[in-house]
Amino acid sequence: MRDQNQKKNKAHYNKIYSRYNIHNTLYWLKNLDSFLNTATTTETSWFALYLNDFRNRLRGKKVLEMGCGDCVNAAIMAGLGAEVYANDIATSSGEIIKKLNENYEFQNPIKFVKGDFLKNELPAESFDFVIGKAFLHHLEIPVEDKFLKETYRLLKTGGEARFFEPAVNSRLLDEIRWLIPVKGRPSKLDRKAFREWRENDPHPDRSFSSRHFEKAGSKYFEEVTIVPVGTLERFSRFYKWGKNRNSFKKWALKSEIYIPGFINKALTRSQLIICKKKL
Ligand SMILES: C[S@@+](CC[C@H](N)C(=O)[O-])C[C@H]1O[C@@H](n2cnc3c(N)ncnc32)[C@H](O)[C@@H]1O
Repeated sequence: MRDQNQKKNKAHYNKIYSRYNIHNTLYWLKNLDSFLNTATTTETSWFALYLNDFRNRLRGKKVLEMGCGDCVNAAIMAGLGAEVYANDIATSSGEIIKKLNENYEFQNPIKFVKGDFLKNELPAESFDFVIGKAFLHHLEIPVEDKFLKETYRLLKTGGEARFFEPAVNSRLLDEIRWLIPVKGRPSKLDRKAFREWRENDPHPDRSFSSRHFEKAGSKYFEEVTIVPVGTLERFSRFYKWGKNRNSFKKWALKSEIYIPGFINKALTRSQLIICKKKL
């Protein structure tokens, strides 16, 4: 089962990233501040991952990114002065890192950790941060448990793991979501097309609830915090791509923190999971 899910992810993402052009990443690296100013105020994953001044806490730190994918975040963190190690089951992510190192003068070139991450031979207590951006929910739950255990082993005492993941905390909202077709995913009502989509989809059928992530993290970590992100931002899809949409997103991400916690958690679209390893 584990192998089947990993094979599916590997094939799916190898194909996507083998076509990836690093041109934009290089441009963003050369214009780091303006890239981050836009990304962290308008894009949920960047907004969430860079909460609590993450951007200014990276210089000189040793960071591991799991499921680095197109390697944009690994590159940005290295551009901000961190020593970055990155892993992905897709070997094409390693090719992207090779090209990035050849084309940009990082203070520390990014190191690709190849293959099955659970077989890494990295020493314990060696990282200040472990990052996963839209990563954990690609793992089946028993495998996620192994990754969290490994994360704890690799982090220094006082270190922090930060995972940005989708959130499904309301069954009703989830049911409605499956009925509405989005780009690349048909409605559940179109049974044949939906079945075909599901067979090729790299996400395992599992819980994405905040309660699950809180429990899974607490098994190893002394402190787990869940920050809901996207309750209002999710409505940005009613806007066409462009300036108005970005203005709405900016407003939404800034405003949703004022929604009472229990409502925000129930309705949120995504979440930042912060796991701290303490003394
Ligand atoms: C949704 S993508 C996110 C990529 C990137 N972090 C981003 O934010 O764009 C999920 C990534 O997890 C990787 N992945 C899935 N299962 C994995 C595993 N068992 N070990 C390492 N990487 C895995 C996939 O190859 C893919 O690159």
